[in-house]
Amino acid sequence: MSSNAKLNVAVIFGGQSSEHEVSRVSVTMVLNNIDREKYNVYMTGITKDGKWYLYEGEVGRIADGGWETSGQTTQAFIVPDAALHGMVVMRESGAEIIPLDAVFPVMHGRNGEDGTIQGLCELAHIPCVGCGLTSSAVCLDKALTNTVLEYAGIPQAKFLWFYAPYFEKHMDEILDQIEDELGYPCFVKPANAGSSVGISKCDRRGDVIDAVRFAAGHDRKIVVEENINGQEVEVAILGNDEPIASVVGEIIPAAEWYDYDAKYNDEASKLLIPANLSSETSELIRKRAIQAYKMLGCSGMARVDFLVRRSDGQPMLNEPNTLPGFTEISMYPKLFEASGIGKTELIDKLIGFAIERAENGK
Ligand SMILES: Nc1ncnc2c1ncn2[C@@H]1O[C@H](COP(=O)(O)OP(=O)(O)O)[C@@H](O)[C@H]1O
Ligand SMILES: [Mg+2]
Repeated sequence: MSSNAKLNVAVIFGGQSSEHEVSRVSVTMVLNNIDREKYNVYMTGITKDGKWYLYEGEVGRIADGGWETSGQTTQAFIVPDAALHGMVVMRESGAEIIPLDAVFPVMHGRNGEDGTIQGLCELAHIPCVGCGLTSSAVCLDKALTNTVLEYAGIPQAKFLWFYAPYFEKHMDEILDQIEDELGYPCFVKPANAGSSVGISKCDRRGDVIDAVRFAAGHDRKIVVEENINGQEVEVAILGNDEPIASVVGEIIPAAEWYDYDAKYNDEASKLLIPANLSSETSELIRKRAIQAYKMLGCSGMARVDFLVRRSDGQPMLNEPNTLPGFTEISMYPKLFEASGIGKTELIDKLIGFAIERAENGK
């Protein structure tokens, strides 16, 4: 392929996830900012029940879900066959094959951020933006992430995890352990979710029982963490073997903690860039974020979130996000904008890192 040929990129959105709606807003930003001179963009939507379509309508009909009934969708899917290396579109006239140079999954949470799409791309030998199969799967699972970070000695909240059916059988034993090791308040979370879905802050024993049952609606694997009373800050990481860290940003949640409403519905939640931190603490956060990124096998990008403990100023790693929010107001693109990399350049670099990773072998 000549160096000035346009590259075919499938930008995937939606998906079978509790964050389906957020994905539709994130992808709108990506589609509005991707360099159309350089890339032929194939908008690929996955419905909540898992149907795949090539969407050939207006970008503006994605955010509200109108794309699904636009009449401009054609059944299509990325196939695992490495020789086909692309997407099959079921046109009325017959199957059309679109070879792909890269896939950009702009999906959050399960069935998109968790290694599933990444694994499909690995089978098909198609470069995929962001982390690969293993690191995506590990980073989405809070029990696995916390275990790897503990092994790496990176400071984080004390935690324990169990399966919901085990909790129902050994409730008193687990509740005693939570009280002995973590205390109240504590956070109960589904291991695999996102956008604060299924998470509760608990102040007493009875709350924990309800919270576990609530979290179990999202994942049978449950994580409980001690509460960190801290300043909520985030740093964006970009790159493969030599990743760079952005400036550190801060979240001022409108609620007591950063729940779903505070994230997406409450205009009173604010982002502060740069965060209100000393330069030493910011440097430490950037260093720990890169250490975690490497330890978790990340590539392409991740946003790494911390709680800076108020009692002693210690940055406690809260979680990595391998497909962070990408909306117009999201922290990841804003942090790189503040670090001198605009949205179009950022998307271009992300696709470049995906191609580089595929060329070097995963
Ligand atoms: N251990 C903790 N201590 C204090 N606050 C927490 C803790 N864990 C989570 N939170 C609060 O809950 C929010 C969502 O939790 P998080 O683990 O980031 O889940 P998600 O993957 O859904 O974003 C955080 O942004 C923070 O406000
Ligand atoms: Mg979070």
